[in-house]
Amino acid sequence: MQRDLIAEIPKAELHLHIEGTLEPELMLALGERNRVRLPYSTVEEAREAYEFTDLQSFLNIYYDGAQVLLTEEDFYDLTWAYLERARRDNIVHAEIFFDPQTHTERGVPLQAVVSGIRAALDAAGSELGITTSLILCFLRHLSAAQAMAALEEALPWREAIVGVGLDSSEIGNPPSKFTAVFDRARAEGFLPVAHAGEEGPPSYIWEALDLLGARRIDHGVRCLEDERLVERLRVEQVPLTVCPLSNVKLRVFDRIEDHTLARLLDRGLCVTVNSDDPAYFGGYLNANYRAVRDALAVDADGLIRLARNGFVGSFLDAGAKRRHLAALDRVAAAHGASLT
Ligand code: ADE
Ligand code: ZN
Repeated sequence: MQRDLIAEIPKAELHLHIEGTLEPELMLALGERNRVRLPYSTVEEAREAYEFTDLQSFLNIYYDGAQVLLTEEDFYDLTWAYLERARRDNIVHAEIFFDPQTHTERGVPLQAVVSGIRAALDAAGSELGITTSLILCFLRHLSAAQAMAALEEALPWREAIVGVGLDSSEIGNPPSKFTAVFDRARAEGFLPVAHAGEEGPPSYIWEALDLLGARRIDHGVRCLEDERLVERLRVEQVPLTVCPLSNVKLRVFDRIEDHTLARLLDRGLCVTVNSDDPAYFGGYLNANYRAVRDALAVDADGLIRLARNGFVGSFLDAGAKRRHLAALDRVAAAHGASLT
């Protein structure tokens, strides 16, 4: 029997919005539990609505769905469902985004959001053997003052949150809008990352690096339009958290065959594979790896390289990275793939 390399390699996921893991089944159940009216009454109706033309057309539906999340238990259930699903894809480490402003703007206490998510993350460590960390994302379509307020509100949960990120509508909301917020976040010890170069131009990636101090770029696929930027990303080995199925669903690329992931990898960039909002984009992490293998002809060595980059680009400490890479190398060797 052919062994399944993708299923067997231990993987890290570095670009995953917890609100984007809300499957229609759970959305409808929570809608009923909390008496929140949804625009869909069946799972099929919801899935039929998941046809997107760009990032904004997705975000409208994604923020609608998040309205069913009200209590600590809801956030626990959401997060636990993702973690159980992640285990099946052999994810051993996940760095998870959450959007506090999506919830606090509706009157949900930040305490319910963070405590619910954290309780599930803590249980995953002991019950599923998955290590995790949590990254607070600012919604870039809102103001810098609102982002600063969100940061300050989160300070009591400083120990529960490893980093800050920047997501939502990219075009027209450059990283420079959030320079002061990220200055403050870094001073408080949060590790900065930012979505940049998904729909936005290469200049947004430069800004994320130079103005926000981003340690990783989420997406970053438009870097290929700027040769000097590619060289910078290569020399500094800045991890790019690329999300292939997301990019096709949101029409960054028309077809998976057009995706530039293999080119980014060939250029020596620290490319990682991630699922972004898998409940909306039709595939969890292994499905993204399979798409890359099947449509972009990335071979076993390339797949191992992508998985290695996931650990290298993570916020794990050096010892944990070494242990994960050694485990990955053992699986690679068993498959005859070449290492390092
Ligand atoms: N929020 C959730 N998914 C996102 C994405 N792919 N880009 C920007 N903001 C997001
Ligand atoms: Zn994202």
